[in-house]
Amino acid sequence: MALRARGTNPRRRGAAADRRYIAGPPFFFEKKRGGLSAPKGEFAMPVVLGLASSHAPSLFADIEYWPAIHKGLTRDVPQPRELADETPEVIAGWIERIGEAFATLRRQIEEHRLDAVIIVGDDQAEVFSNACNPGIAVYAGEEVSGSTSISWIGQDRKDNHISLKGEPSVAMTLLNGLLERNFDPALMEKLVPLARPEGGLGHAFTRVARACGLHETMLPTIPLFVSSYHPPMPSGARCYALGKAIAEIFADRSERIGIYGSGGLSHDPIGPRAGWVDEPLDHWVLERIERAEGEKLGHLFSFDSDTLRGGSGEIRSWIVAAGAFDGIKGNVVDYIPARHAVTGLGFAYWSRD
Ligand SMILES: [Fe+2]
Repeated sequence: MALRARGTNPRRRGAAADRRYIAGPPFFFEKKRGGLSAPKGEFAMPVVLGLASSHAPSLFADIEYWPAIHKGLTRDVPQPRELADETPEVIAGWIERIGEAFATLRRQIEEHRLDAVIIVGDDQAEVFSNACNPGIAVYAGEEVSGSTSISWIGQDRKDNHISLKGEPSVAMTLLNGLLERNFDPALMEKLVPLARPEGGLGHAFTRVARACGLHETMLPTIPLFVSSYHPPMPSGARCYALGKAIAEIFADRSERIGIYGSGGLSHDPIGPRAGWVDEPLDHWVLERIERAEGEKLGHLFSFDSDTLRGGSGEIRSWIVAAGAFDGIKGNVVDYIPARHAVTGLGFAYWSRD
């Protein structure tokens, strides 16, 4: 890739540009960027790493809990015939592959020496509720915490909390850059969960953060909420444009940014198609990523479809990540159409290094 010497681009954005839009709290304006580890002064780096994965509860549970999670998510919905082929041996093999897939994503995070990662995820009546649900929201606090508990196996939302380090300067750069590009995200400077206060930040963020060890490495993490279950939900084209805008915002800055799309692929937990996986849809999504045809993902959610409702709406998070790597081939790490996990499980990454 071509690297551009810092300071040579007239469009370069910095703290001065950030100030124009938001009269934020003093900590933002006074915060020094010395906490970030980007090498000083040589090159500008764009969003260097994209990641995407499912976050279905079974991904994070031992095999003995899979039947209870399956029952909790499918209830009395008639199940597809493939379920019978998913023996304990098959599921054990999947659990190994899931561990290897997350290990691959963790390795990518390490190797790309990120300064911060933006996690794109949805909220399912956790932080937001019908009292207020933004289509897009940026979290810009110094710190955030939430539970990784799986209620289907009796874990309480007040338990298993992890804390993640925020990075207000990166979050505000993101917010202001989006405003400049005709997006209107909500700004959250502190977390006040409306729907489930005891759970904190929702599962779309906490589960993948724990799987990637972000609570241990304390890699600065910026939650970017993109509504996928409850209106207003952005279209696929809007999600793709959002990803492109994010890449553009950070293109000329020194921070090495990662973006992680959390959710999907096809699934409908507790819905009328719970347990059914739309393999052709999932393969189509993954093929677009592998062929650098992410823009075609923007057609999703421009029409109504039974299988695009419910949890499949979380494919929006993947579209945002794909948009940040417009024209760049992604790498599909693995795909498992796991009816017992009630989800088409996908793992992928993109790199600019
Ligand atoms: Fe979810």
